[in-house]
Amino acid sequence: MSPSSVSSRATGSSPEVLSRSLLGIRELPAEAIVQILDRAVELRERTRADGPLDLLRGRTVALLFMEPSTRTRFSFEMAVRSLGANPMVFGAAGSSTVKGESLIDTARTLKSVGAEAFVLRHKKVGAPHLLARRLGAPVVNAGDGIDEHPTQALLDALTLRDRLGDLSGRTVAIVGDVRHSRVARSNCFLLTRLGARVLMAGPGTLCPPGMDALGVEVVPSLDHALREADAVMMLRIQRERLGEAMLPSDREYARFFGLSSERLAAARPEVLVMHPAPMNRGVEITDDVADGDASVVFDQVANGVAVRMAVIERAMGGGR
Ligand code: CP
Repeated sequence: MSPSSVSSRATGSSPEVLSRSLLGIRELPAEAIVQILDRAVELRERTRADGPLDLLRGRTVALLFMEPSTRTRFSFEMAVRSLGANPMVFGAAGSSTVKGESLIDTARTLKSVGAEAFVLRHKKVGAPHLLARRLGAPVVNAGDGIDEHPTQALLDALTLRDRLGDLSGRTVAIVGDVRHSRVARSNCFLLTRLGARVLMAGPGTLCPPGMDALGVEVVPSLDHALREADAVMMLRIQRERLGEAMLPSDREYARFFGLSSERLAAARPEVLVMHPAPMNRGVEITDDVADGDASVVFDQVANGVAVRMAVIERAMGGGR
């Protein structure tokens, strides 16, 4: 992010406020991960029994989505409402950012009219970190470029825990365009920190040498990954983030790295199929697998609300 896009008079954040931010899984200890997941389960049970809660009644959370989103945006909005707070939803189109207003000034404006915590999706790596340092309010990273998507990894972990129990010793395969995937990166940090084994597979240009620095094992094929996995996480090709030279055709990609029911038949009978979505059906996953018995794709989406309730509550310093 260029310094010119930063207002020089933004206030700094205290260590206490910074500690309530969730900028990535990279810096989150295992105890904090487990605490968020356990709280998400409690909040999920309470909202199922009682409907929306009033833990944050009268308080306001700003949701800044400077990049497209369906699941993350609406589940954060639902999470804020389910805690009894008000979501202040901000999209770049139609705002004064098109007149050149900086991210920091935009966030300070929303803070001035009552927002106490900020959720940010941004195409630039590090944008949430910058905001957290400068704003004097907690910031939750809702996806920054190719770096991290911490709440996605948390909702994936909750979905896995619901089905598998303790993740220690379990094997999760992440397959596809891991190079450009913030979901893959956050999941690698989280799963290995909770003691799971992570396998990775993808075309050479999209799963390049060096990925094993994340503490994972790179395996040569989807079939290899499938044989050993308790869960397989399929990723779409992030066409918006890569150049033509790296781009396999959909047909070629599906042939080698698409998950079909024929391929899935060679996996463990109880294997779980995951996808952060949006899915490109017919490319990395076929319809029958996406909608089949092994698929937990829409459970992942549903768990996004509970996880984001726990993260927002934490950012706001706890509920009443
Ligand atoms: N998984 C995910 O981040 O989806 P959206 O881009 O729709 O928010």
